Formats: sequence, structure tokens, C-alpha cells
Amino acid sequence: MQTLSVIKADIGGWVGHSAMHPEVLDVGRERLAQAVQSGLLIDGQAHACGDDLFLVMSHDRGQDDTAIHEYAWDTFTTGTETAKNLKLYGAGQDLLVDAFSGNIRGMGPGSAEIELVERQSEPVIVFMGDKTSSGSFNLPFYKMFADPFNTAGLVIADALHQGFAFEVHDLKNSKKIMFNAPEELYDLLVFIGSPGRYAIKRVIARSTGEVAAVSSTDKLSLIAGRYVGKDDPTAIVRCQNQFPAVGEVIEPFTTPYIVEGFMRGSHYGPWMPVSLADAHPARFDGPPRVVALGFQLANGKLVGPRDMFDDLSYDNARQKANDIADFLRLHGPFEPHRLPLDEMEYTTMPAVAAKMESRWSEI
Ligand code: F6R
Ligand code: MG
Ligand code: MG
Repeated sequence: MQTLSVIKADIGGWVGHSAMHPEVLDVGRERLAQAVQSGLLIDGQAHACGDDLFLVMSHDRGQDDTAIHEYAWDTFTTGTETAKNLKLYGAGQDLLVDAFSGNIRGMGPGSAEIELVERQSEPVIVFMGDKTSSGSFNLPFYKMFADPFNTAGLVIADALHQGFAFEVHDLKNSKKIMFNAPEELYDLLVFIGSPGRYAIKRVIARSTGEVAAVSSTDKLSLIAGRYVGKDDPTAIVRCQNQFPAVGEVIEPFTTPYIVEGFMRGSHYGPWMPVSLADAHPARFDGPPRVVALGFQLANGKLVGPRDMFDDLSYDNARQKANDIADFLRLHGPFEPHRLPLDEMEYTTMPAVAAKMESRWSEI
């Protein structure tokens, strides 16, 4: 049994919240190389999407392993020192507690981990998001694992025809539930259509019981009880054979679906699929980005990445995303560009409401 863990955090932006400084990325790379040398990891790579550092770690210690989580935490604190020295913006912003204890969940960084028995050939895609929230993978996961208009294999491939099961988390009440697709699709959609509250944590292949996909569902604002930054989620998806093909896994991103995030975490915007080279949201702190890194696992080694959205066939999606962003921006401070009142990460409402209190009168 092997484990693929992706643990990520925003520990400082360059410039503002737009990107990661190369020296911070170097800290991640060096620390992971040391961990491979010491034998903690089989392999490890550090990547950036926007201002977030994603540690892709392959090991044989299982999920929720204290040593792995602590190593990731220490990497983020070391990177924060570099960010502070360069006076980068928001240095250490996702590290919500002073010291590590036991498990990184609930401490600020996001995590997605998958335990697997490596198949004869094991293609996986690691998605990295920036300027958006946990829950944003609901729609793409639904398309990959439940929509035959996206995934042809659900209809015409024996290995997928039994469908997939979805583990959904209620982020506000810390509860989870399983749904079987296709027979419970309508029930599933009642919940996952509201990604601010309900997020798909895992998808299971019903033919084998194996985990097909996992996403980070850590919600910074719920952990901190206030706005501290966007979740900028990650996801891992296994591909081919009993799972959707690589092309089916990345197909949902040909539509830049609208997600929450963007400027001040308080606006809806299109989720733009980009290459690593274009993963630095600038315009109105956006639009939100998603990168897809493809790997073949070889006895736990990460053979890759292939930068899957570095492809002409995603140009239309990017063009569409720019058009949608232009159009939504025209709404300025009005909904539905701005999030509804109780969902905004930033608000002046309580203060302004208090100031205006005495000026309201009956109609
Ligand atoms: C979005 C994000 C940014 C900031 C914005 C204001 O996730 O982090 O859009 O919210 O740049 O940042 P502050 O309040 O730090 O000036
Ligand atoms: Mg940031
Ligand atoms: Mg970010």
C-alpha cells in the first residue's frame, strides 16, 4: 500500500496575492529532496499555483501520518521565514496555529490524501486551485464520475458501468454521508449543488471499492472563525481502466464553471484552466485558476509532471473565462458578481448597519 499526499498552504504572495516567489518554492523543493534522502518520502515535488505552495508527497506511511503532516508543517514554517525575510505579502497567512500537534487538519493548510495499491500502470492527476474555495471540485467531480455526457466510459466501458459512490461532507456540521451513483444522483445533487456548505471529499469505484478521487475540504474561514484567505483547494484523481480516462478527468475544465473566490474571496468568477506558466492570477486578484499535473507512479516515484492544461484544446475555455470575467466585472459591487451578504469573506455590513441604525423608519 502506498500513499499520495498533497498538502498545501499560502505562506506569502509575490506580489500581493498573485504568485509565489521562486525562493519560497525552492524551500519546498529542498525540503522535499531532503525527505526523500532521509527515507521519509519515496518521492516529493513542490509546485505553485498562484500564491499557494503544494507539496506532492509519495510515501508508504498511510494517510493522516503524523511524521508526514509535521514535515509539511515544518516546510511551511521554514518557507514562511523566507517569505518574511523578503517581506512577501501575507507571510504565513494559512498557518492558523502556533505549533503543530498530531495532524495538520484544522491547522489551516489543506490536504488531500489517497492510499492505493499501485496498478501495473498508475496515472494520476493532481489538481491545484487558487482564488477559490473547497467545494469547487464538486461540479468537476460530478462530471467525471457521474455524467455520461462527460465520461463516455460510464456508458460503454464495463469497468466503469457500475458507477461511483460519493462521500459528501457537511462542512458546517462536520458530518459525512455516502451516495451511490447513478441511482441516487438526484439526492446527491440536492447537496453538492451547494458547494459552500457541502463538499465531495472522496469518490469510490463501486466495482472495486478503491478510492478514485479525493479533494481538500478544509475551510479556512470555518477553522479561524473569520476571513483569513481562500481555501485554494487541491484534488487527486486516479485515471484509466476502472477509473475515468485522463481525457475524461480533465474534460470538465473545458467549461470555466463559476466558482466563489476571486477578489477578497467575495466574488463569483470563472475557474480558468491554465498551465503552470499562467498560474498567477492578477486581474482583480483572479480570475480563479486551476492547474492539472499529470504523473505516472512508478513504485511510488512521481514520473512527471505533465502540465495537462498546457494544451491548445484549452484555449477556448480560457477565452470563455476571460469573457465571463469581463461580463461579471461589469456588475461591480452588485450580486451576482459579489457573493450574497452572509457568504462574503469581507464585509463592512455590521459597522455600516450600526451607523445607519437610527436613520431607518417605517415605510
Ligand atoms: C483572495 C485574496 C485577495 C485578498 C485581497 C485583499 O483570495 O486573498 O483577493 O483578499 O488582495 O487583501 P488584503 O485585505 O490583505 O489587502
Ligand atoms: Mg494569498
Ligand atoms: Mg491563494
